[in-house]
Amino acid sequence: MQIVRALDQLRRSMADLRRGGKTVALVPTMGALHHGHLTLVEEARRRADRVIVSIFVNPTQFGPNEDLAAYPRRAEADAALLRAAGCDLLWSPDVAEMYPHGFRTSVTVAGITAMLEGAARPGHFDGVATVVGKLFGQVRPDVALFGEKDYQQLRVVTRMAADLDLAVEVIGIATVRDADGLALSSRNAYLSPAERAAAAALPAALRTAAEGIAAGAPVAKMLAEAQARLEQAGFGPIDYVALCDAATLEPVETADRDCRLLVAARIGGTRLIDNLAVPAR
Ligand code: PAF
Repeated sequence: MQIVRALDQLRRSMADLRRGGKTVALVPTMGALHHGHLTLVEEARRRADRVIVSIFVNPTQFGPNEDLAAYPRRAEADAALLRAAGCDLLWSPDVAEMYPHGFRTSVTVAGITAMLEGAARPGHFDGVATVVGKLFGQVRPDVALFGEKDYQQLRVVTRMAADLDLAVEVIGIATVRDADGLALSSRNAYLSPAERAAAAALPAALRTAAEGIAAGAPVAKMLAEAQARLEQAGFGPIDYVALCDAATLEPVETADRDCRLLVAARIGGTRLIDNLAVPAR
């Protein structure tokens, strides 16, 4: 596996990797890799001849009071995992390489970024769309794989790629969960043992609400019960528990179309997000 930190080297390496018409899959990450990321790499290997993983802790998607400085960085362990997983090239630029002096461009995807994470974390999706747009320009992948755990991010990136006519297929991959249902996330590393045990209430509340709504229970009641269950388990503040149209993420009051149930809540100092599909009734 090549490890590349400079853009001119990346361009040379990508030309070599593409030679003979080989197809390229990109898995964008911020590192601190876990089994969820490795599932994306596995799927990438099935879908393309070459697999590129990027690791870049992107400062522009963190708000001023967020965890940019504390975000886990494990360069050597990540490289070892990727080598074992069959990644061909690790693209790992530093901040000056990604945002050189004079950088002035920002990508905004309107509408779908206004709610949920976009409302709770102003500017977050501009940072995500800008860096993913750059990664697509740098690597020029045929396919790019994203976890469904960040469901709104997946929808934002899909919209951006379509709107900007980027020749990349954006693919969402199902969330990987621990045995108790907690979605794998690099931020789970922040949880104390007691918080980690209590955090299992999040997927449990989500599942109960999703199943209730799918069975025809009133949406507002199921959302309120999920919120109460999270509060009882020690979550707070809860940014949202919401049922939304699966494509536009507009809030919905009845599951008369394919929906997504999404939640964001803090436990201790750690903010967790999760979501589940709720099919049309
Ligand atoms: O999901 C992430 O890890 C990041 O938001 C991404 C897509 C790599 C952009 O920085």
